[in-house]
Amino acid sequence: MKHLKNLENNLINIKQRRAIKIKRCWWKEAVFYQIYPRSFKDSNNDGIGDIKGITSKLDYLKELGIDVVWLSPVYKSPNNDNGYDISDYRDIMCEFGTLKDWDEMLCEMHKRGIKLIMDLVLNHSSDEHMWFIESRKSKDSLYKDYYIWADGNENGEPPNLWESVFGFSAWHYDEDAKQYYLHLFSKKQPDLNWSNPKLREEIYDIIEFWIKRGVDGFRLDAIRFLGKPEYKNEAVDFYPNDDLTHIYLKEMNQKILSKYNIVTVGEVQDLDIDGAKKYIRESDKELNMCFQFNHVNICEMKYGTKWVNKKPNMFDVKKALSKWQTELPVDAWNTLFFGNHDLPRQVSFFSNDSDHYREISAKMLATIIFTLKGTPFIYQGEEIGMTNIIFDKLDDYNDIDTINFVKQKAEIEDIDIETAFKQNKDIINFVSRDNARTPMQWDDSENAGFTAGTPWLKVNPNYKKINVESNIKDSNSVFNYYKKLIELRKKNDVIIYGDYQEFLLDDKCVFIYKRELYDEKVLVIINMTDEIMQKKMPLNLNVKEATPVICNYKRAYNFKKEMLLRPYESVIYFYY
Ligand code: NOJ
Repeated sequence: MKHLKNLENNLINIKQRRAIKIKRCWWKEAVFYQIYPRSFKDSNNDGIGDIKGITSKLDYLKELGIDVVWLSPVYKSPNNDNGYDISDYRDIMCEFGTLKDWDEMLCEMHKRGIKLIMDLVLNHSSDEHMWFIESRKSKDSLYKDYYIWADGNENGEPPNLWESVFGFSAWHYDEDAKQYYLHLFSKKQPDLNWSNPKLREEIYDIIEFWIKRGVDGFRLDAIRFLGKPEYKNEAVDFYPNDDLTHIYLKEMNQKILSKYNIVTVGEVQDLDIDGAKKYIRESDKELNMCFQFNHVNICEMKYGTKWVNKKPNMFDVKKALSKWQTELPVDAWNTLFFGNHDLPRQVSFFSNDSDHYREISAKMLATIIFTLKGTPFIYQGEEIGMTNIIFDKLDDYNDIDTINFVKQKAEIEDIDIETAFKQNKDIINFVSRDNARTPMQWDDSENAGFTAGTPWLKVNPNYKKINVESNIKDSNSVFNYYKKLIELRKKNDVIIYGDYQEFLLDDKCVFIYKRELYDEKVLVIINMTDEIMQKKMPLNLNVKEATPVICNYKRAYNFKKEMLLRPYESVIYFYY
C-alpha cells in the first residue's frame, strides 16, 4: 500500500516537474507558414495573388498541418517594396481585395483552427502615407515630428554618410520641405520618428485596430531599427540604438500587447545571442520571439556583403544553429527557419537543387528545422522543394534591393546598367530576393495554376515537375515528408520542449543531436553533404536500442556502432 502511494506521489511529482519544465504555450507548439500574398494565389486573374486566393487554399494549409499563417503586408501601399511601404495601416491594398475579403479570410482560418499573424511595418511608412504628405508641407505641420527631418551639412550635402539598406544615401532631400528626411530602406520608405510620443500612440491604436478585428499576433518588421542613434555623430555606418528600441518596446508591451493573448515575432537583423535575448526574454516583457539571422548570414558575415555567389559552409551553419540551441536562456524561445521572402530558396542556397539531390536535400533541411528546439516557420513553396530561378534580363526582376544593387554598381564603376547587370548576373541569380517571390507552383497547367492572367513575376519554368498537385499524389514527396515531420512534432513533446545535446561537435559534415524530455529520447542524425559518410557512433551517446521513425531515404539503416550515411541522409530515431 505504502509502496503504491509512493509510486503515485512519484508520478504526480513527475507530472508537476514536467509541467514546470515545459511551461506549455500555443505559439511554442505551433507550426507557422509564411504567405507572400502577391505570389500565393490569384483569384481574379489580374496576375497578382490576393486575399480571396489565400482563402481558397486554406484547406491545403490545413492538410499540411499548419497552425499559424504569417501574412506579409496586405495594407494599402504603392508597392515600392511590395507592401513593406504602407500608405494606410487600416485598409487593404486594392490589388489584394478589401477589408471584407480579409474578414472572410480570417473567419475561414479560424474555422479551421488556423491563427493569423499580420506583418506590421513600424519602422517606416510609405511616403504616400497621409502623415508624410502632411509632414513635408511645412515646419509647423502637426505631423512634422512623425518623421526624421534634418538640414544638410554646411555644403548642403546629406547630414551624415549613413547608407540605406537598399544602397545609396539614407537621406533624401525633399524639395518641398527644403530638408533631408531619413530613410533606412528606399526613399519611398521614410523612417518614423519613434521618439515622438504622439506617433507611438498612433501606432498602438493601429495595433489595437487589428487585434479587435481578430488577429492573433504580429511579425514586427525591422523592429530593431526603431531606436536611432544621434545622426550628427561621426559614424559612417548606421547602427540601431538598441537601448532606445528596448524602451519603446517595453512601452508598447505594457500599453497594448500584454493586454491580449497574442504572439509577437520581431525581425532583429545582425544581433548575436546577447543582443537578441534582451528582446525576447520573458522577464523583459518586450517580444515573444525574434528572427535572428546568424545561421543564414554566414556569407554576408564573411564577405561583408550578401552579394556573393557563394553557398554558406554547412559546418558554420551547424555551429550557428547549435550555439542558439545551447546558449539561449531558458526564459527565451527560438524561431527555426532557413528561408523567407528576403532570402534565396533554401534548397538552392543551403543544400542542392540538382535533379538528383533536390528532394532528398530539401527533406534534410526540413528535418533540421522540425527537430531543433524552437518554433518552425515554413516559407511558401519550401514544402514542395521550390528552387531559385534564373532571369536573363534585369527587366525580369522586380525587387527594389536587386535593382538598386545594379544601379549602384553602375554608378560606382561608371558603366551602363546593362553591363552592370551582365557582370553580376550570376550573383544576382543566386541571391536576389525575387528567387523566393516567384509564384507558388500549384499544378502543371499554364502559369503553374497561380493565375490565368499574366503573372506579375515570371513563374519558375520547373513548375511542370515541381508543383503542389504532383507532390500531394506522391507519397514519397517533399510535401508528404513535411506532413510526417509536422505530425511527429505535434505528437511528441520531446521534440518541442526537450533538452538539446550535440555530438561530434567538430565534425564538418554530420550534425548529430539528441533531444530529451524525462524518459523520452530522440536522436537526429544528419549528413549535410553530397558524399557518403562513414562515422563511428560517438562514445558518449549511450544507446541501447534505437528505432528509426523518419528517414529521407526509403529505408533507414538500423542503429549500429558505425554509421554509414548516404548523401544528405537524415534520420530521426527514438531510443533508450
Ligand atoms: C524587412 C522585410 O522583410 C523586407 O522585405 C523589407 O524590404 C524591409 N524589412 C523593409 O521593410
